[in-house]
Amino acid sequence: MKDLAPKKSDLDPIEIASRDEISALQLERMKWSLNHAYDNVPFYKKSFDDAGMHPDDLKSLSDLAKFPFTMKQDLRDNYPFGMFAVPRTQIQRLHASSGTTGQPTVVGYTARDIDTWATVVARSLRASGTRAGDVVHVAYGYGLFTGGLGAHYGAEKLGCTVVPISGGMTARQVQLIEDFGASTIMVTPSYMLSILDEYTRQGRDPRNSPLNVGIFGAEPWTNAMRSEIEQAFDMNAVDIYGLSEVMGPGVANECVETKDGLHIWEDHFYPEIINPETGEVVEEGEMGELVFTSLTKEAFPIIRYRTRDLTRLLPGTARSMRRMEKIAGRTDDMIILRGVNVFPTQIEEQLMAVPALAPHFQIELDRKGRMDQMTVHVELASGASDADQAAEQLARKIKSNVGVSAKVILVNTGGVARSQGKAVRIIDNRPKG
Ligand code: DLL
Repeated sequence: MKDLAPKKSDLDPIEIASRDEISALQLERMKWSLNHAYDNVPFYKKSFDDAGMHPDDLKSLSDLAKFPFTMKQDLRDNYPFGMFAVPRTQIQRLHASSGTTGQPTVVGYTARDIDTWATVVARSLRASGTRAGDVVHVAYGYGLFTGGLGAHYGAEKLGCTVVPISGGMTARQVQLIEDFGASTIMVTPSYMLSILDEYTRQGRDPRNSPLNVGIFGAEPWTNAMRSEIEQAFDMNAVDIYGLSEVMGPGVANECVETKDGLHIWEDHFYPEIINPETGEVVEEGEMGELVFTSLTKEAFPIIRYRTRDLTRLLPGTARSMRRMEKIAGRTDDMIILRGVNVFPTQIEEQLMAVPALAPHFQIELDRKGRMDQMTVHVELASGASDADQAAEQLARKIKSNVGVSAKVILVNTGGVARSQGKAVRIIDNRPKG
């Protein structure tokens, strides 16, 4: 693989500024953001007042912990535009989450917000090893989902040639990667696996593809999956994180030279890690729920937003900005099986260690009597033949490394539903409530 580390002189100076400089900028911006939210969004005025807090009470960054949280439900309660801090006529773009339960959540951006977003995505692409002039194949979905357009504006800002293909039509994805000479692809890791299958189906060697860099996110994925994709395509695979409530993709990104977790673009997004049960900020380096405060957003300031994503904060390496470890999972996706907490990423890790299995999987949960049961549906890798042995091997690995008993069911190739965006990892048949 080529050495794609960007030159120091190409970075935004703040990426490698001293911690003191970064903190000073954060404090100044945080004061602005709290005031902006308090003065312009009735929800924040009420929530700060109820907590007995005023933006002027913020004297240091750690004072933020005294301010109240914002939850997804607050966004739903203020549907559609109640959380906006500028008149609707100043909103240049809307995005929204699909909203499987109840109201979707709507987010808005001013022209300046769109520019800030493009800047952090361009920074993310550069950290990933992409350069001006590269062809960037964007297979994240375009539309209300922030993935496609977020990636698109960032790639344009960096000076790339963008292919806005969106998700789906996998055969055509492969053809255009090859014909247009894409050196960077931006897509969910699970859909990248479908693209990999399609290369094989077309009789093409993915190692000969023009791709050098893959920027994968929007769902949890493991370092084992990184190795699988990197080897299959002879490319660099890096992680990109974000969420629509905070901006979209490009809140944090890995650096291609270290691949050791995602640097948070802390000049725009301030992270905290809390204990999800008590709401207390944990010690630096401890695992917990990620909470974000926007520092520069105009249309949709967000203060102490509980993401439900579990990770830990680590000091900077390739950049001065702090890193977050790869997301372990969402609190919503945590499976509790006879007292043991399990995340789909842990199953992925075990699965990737069984060479006879393909990397596609889905977890089904059922309740028999008072006992929850987990079934893992997987496929045999092409060329592998002993299905029983592979299933047994995975069940054994899950038992000894994750600590739970799971039934493993081998299905035919294509039997595990393929995603064209975010993979659905859990099918929960347990009675609700
Ligand atoms: O998924 C934004 C995005 C698009 C990020 C493309 C990266 C690439 P939402 O649809 O609002 O936004 O979903 C946000 O997805 O809270 C996480 O649970 C999950 N997520 C996003 N990136 C990662 C990642 C976009 N790199 C939710 N690793 C977040 C693990 C991720 N989970």
